[in-house]
Amino acid sequence: MNKIPLTRKRKIRIWEHANDLHLFNGFSEDQNKISLIDLASNDYLCLNRDPRLINAANRVMSSQGIGSGGSHLVTGSRPIHYELENALGKWLNREHILLFPSGFQANLAALNALANRKTVVIADKLVHHSLLVGVKASGAKLKRFAHNDLNELEKVLRLSQHHNPVVITESLFSMEGTSPNLKGMAKLCEKFGAIFFVDEAHALGVMGSKGRGMCYELSDSIKIISGTFGKAFGCGGAFIASNKAFGEHLIQTSGPFRYTTALAPPLAAGSLEALRLIQENPTWGEELLKEAKKWRNRISSKGWSCPPGNGPILSIVVGTDKESLYYQKKLEKNGLLSVAIRPPTVPEGTARLRIVVRRNLPHDSLEKLIFCLGAK
Ligand SMILES: Cc1ncc(COP(=O)(O)O)c(C=O)c1O
Repeated sequence: MNKIPLTRKRKIRIWEHANDLHLFNGFSEDQNKISLIDLASNDYLCLNRDPRLINAANRVMSSQGIGSGGSHLVTGSRPIHYELENALGKWLNREHILLFPSGFQANLAALNALANRKTVVIADKLVHHSLLVGVKASGAKLKRFAHNDLNELEKVLRLSQHHNPVVITESLFSMEGTSPNLKGMAKLCEKFGAIFFVDEAHALGVMGSKGRGMCYELSDSIKIISGTFGKAFGCGGAFIASNKAFGEHLIQTSGPFRYTTALAPPLAAGSLEALRLIQENPTWGEELLKEAKKWRNRISSKGWSCPPGNGPILSIVVGTDKESLYYQKKLEKNGLLSVAIRPPTVPEGTARLRIVVRRNLPHDSLEKLIFCLGAK
């Protein structure tokens, strides 16, 4: 296998923000300053540098601190945390919201609370690393099913039904751009008495009715979800939404909740402002998905294929590490920022360009991308 090591600095490029919300500034290999259109970050709604979020964060930072100075159960809880929890609970129609400093920790906490040594956790083959770490920490037995394959899930569930099964998946897969049939999965979980836990990290703010994620309409059968503010909300931090009993259980027993400094108040304020904007602009998600469909069609008209999906993540599977880096460089030369995603993040032989369609990208972005890709 032609392994090319992963690097943090991408040579000497140090990215910094530009005035234009869609640009990233950095240095090219010959030290010339370059600005690239950002087709790589998870800031789907382009809120990351929105002045309204920054002002909200500044206001709260002045009054409630830059950091929270303690864990939630000691001195870390601030009024802004309760405001955010209440607003999210109403928006998602969930009884209980519990905040975490990151989605990684939220997933770790949820799995630790849901599973133990007597449990079988059944996970989609491509679920996020944080969920797998959670399963490992819980001591549960892990079984996998092929990506989004309900037939296989049913077989595994049948065999595991007497072992307190927990089924885990994501509503929008971060490296594929695919989504499962959540309704079908929920029915299977009901049939075999399994708890169903869904990570909404990439769907929240963008997918589902008015951006409320893909579990919103299924909240009767999907009782626990995780979400993060680090993607469409443009900030950082995360939450678990559940019924009151599970939320209380987390507060009383969860190490990843209890033994960590509470979410930084400015991030909570930025996230609350992002939520306000998403509510005020209920068509943002729909419009973005329409644009993503246009991009998908145009890319496939050139013979390239993306895994099926409706969301803003378009994974163009290129093949080898070398080829993916070739295209990354070619895009960069033409003013576009996309990052080659390589093993171990994705399976061997499926290195890809992960293209993210973000709100209000410059009009010529798609044609620039097509020019770089050429015909397959
Ligand atoms: C599906 C999924 N879940 C959870 C996380 C972790 O979220 P956070 O970045 O807030 O830790 C990520 C981020 O990479 C993710 O892609």
